[in-house]
Amino acid sequence: MSENKILIDNVTVEYRNGGSPRKPWSLFGKGRNCGSAGDDVRTVLHDINIEIKTGEFVSVLGHSGCGKSTLLKVIAGFVRPTRGAVLIDGKEVTKPQPDHVFVFQEGSLFPWLTIRENISLALRSVKDPREKEEKAAYYLELVGLENSHSQYPYMLSGGMRQRAEIARAIAAQPDILLMDEPFSALDYLTRLNLREEMLYLHVMLPKTTILFVTHDIDEALQLCNRLIIMSDPPSQVKCCRTIKAPHPRNLTDIELSDLRSHIYYHLGVHTAV
Ligand SMILES: Nc1ncnc2c1ncn2[C@@H]1O[C@H](COP(=O)(O)OP(=O)(O)OP(=O)(O)O)[C@@H](O)[C@H]1O
Ligand SMILES: [Mg+2]
Repeated sequence: MSENKILIDNVTVEYRNGGSPRKPWSLFGKGRNCGSAGDDVRTVLHDINIEIKTGEFVSVLGHSGCGKSTLLKVIAGFVRPTRGAVLIDGKEVTKPQPDHVFVFQEGSLFPWLTIRENISLALRSVKDPREKEEKAAYYLELVGLENSHSQYPYMLSGGMRQRAEIARAIAAQPDILLMDEPFSALDYLTRLNLREEMLYLHVMLPKTTILFVTHDIDEALQLCNRLIIMSDPPSQVKCCRTIKAPHPRNLTDIELSDLRSHIYYHLGVHTAV
């Protein structure tokens, strides 16, 4: 049985300025610190080691451009690391897996399908068409898109598209859920509602392992069991903290307030503390 445990083992990612990640074999004969290996190569992630247990809810924070999306793409199998590997349940990730769902920062709804069809596609395990329709309606309502079910993605606003994408990810009930700033285009109230929904999902699917990239520190404090703060490139794990406070959390609690100050400190923000 799948355990959904993720091991990020010494992962380094170098991008060529022209585009794709540098192939491992192009390293032969070069120095270990890739930043100096050539002008056209940039090290984004450098020797990242993280172990994520089954059912953990991990938030990843860090400055823009530090490699958070790259890290998620490596775990998802969209980007091959230049060195090191990602192992899920002991098996190296070499390509995307159907049981792992990625909510992209830039959106990935199928433009030729309506919003309901996009969500229905995620309900692979539901065979009965009537049940499928009911479930799709449930998830649409959950994100407030019940009146947009027959529209195509291009007909929706950015925030509505993102809500549809979140509904599709939740409907899939995946083993591993990789979310890249999933709430960034949403209004404040919808964000709050979806935070609650994420917690509900985590309770309902205790074996689903969630990695959640965000720039919103309170969102991370409210949701996750563990916080990872990345340094600037060549990025490494700068700080890793477990949050034991039970849900629902009161963000004014002393433990969480202290942690917030700690995060600001690590991100180099001194005025907000
Ligand atoms: N395909 C690519 N080719 C070359 N460079 C890339 C590629 N993808 C990302 N980069 C570079 O890698 C660095 C990290 O990008 P990434 O998107 O992972 O950052 P991020 O932490 O997710 O940033 P943000 O918070 O702004 O989303 C950036 O400097 C970016 O320009
Ligand atoms: Mg990003």
